[in-house]
Amino acid sequence: MLGLKLLTDPRWANIAESNLEEILTDHAWCEQKAASNAIFLITNNSEHADLVIKMAEIAMEEMEHFRQVVEIIKQRGYTLGRERRDDYVNQLMKFARKDGSRNTSFIDRLLFAAMIEARSCERFRVLSQNIQDKELAKFYYDLMVSEATHYTTFLGFARKYAEDVDVDKRWAEWLEYEGQLIQSYGNSEAIHG
Ligand SMILES: [Fe+2]
Ligand SMILES: [Fe+2]
Repeated sequence: MLGLKLLTDPRWANIAESNLEEILTDHAWCEQKAASNAIFLITNNSEHADLVIKMAEIAMEEMEHFRQVVEIIKQRGYTLGRERRDDYVNQLMKFARKDGSRNTSFIDRLLFAAMIEARSCERFRVLSQNIQDKELAKFYYDLMVSEATHYTTFLGFARKYAEDVDVDKRWAEWLEYEGQLIQSYGNSEAIHG
């Protein structure tokens, strides 16, 4: 799925469902961080009008996802907890190139975003197919579709603005790195946990 090297064990969905307040809190903050990432790309690459417009759309979509998750938290009588640290995303960030040209960093930032969208999409699919809660299963199915579109968008911009970066080669390296990294996860009630 989406080139991912390792698929999530469906039993992770049971761990997630065993603590809905926690998974929903973690999920809400994932959406907020996705919006922040889109805004970061706008701030740092303002010369690309098509990217700026698309990232503005994505930022709004991600905040709409955030709002929807918080709405579910409220409806169910839960409380949105404080922002959760996302260890998986922090580990991914370490792989992003920061020492090359400005364009090299830009392309890697897009691939970093595509990678998170791909894994999030896969995790939402696992949730939609395996949790007992019908309302949430439908919600996660809809989000899976949305994040798949974001994945395509980020990868598309990486190819468009690649210049001297070999995007196919670099993307293969990202998939390889992520495939190793994700082996340490899949056992906690967090979207990337
Ligand atoms: Fe989202
Ligand atoms: Fe997304």
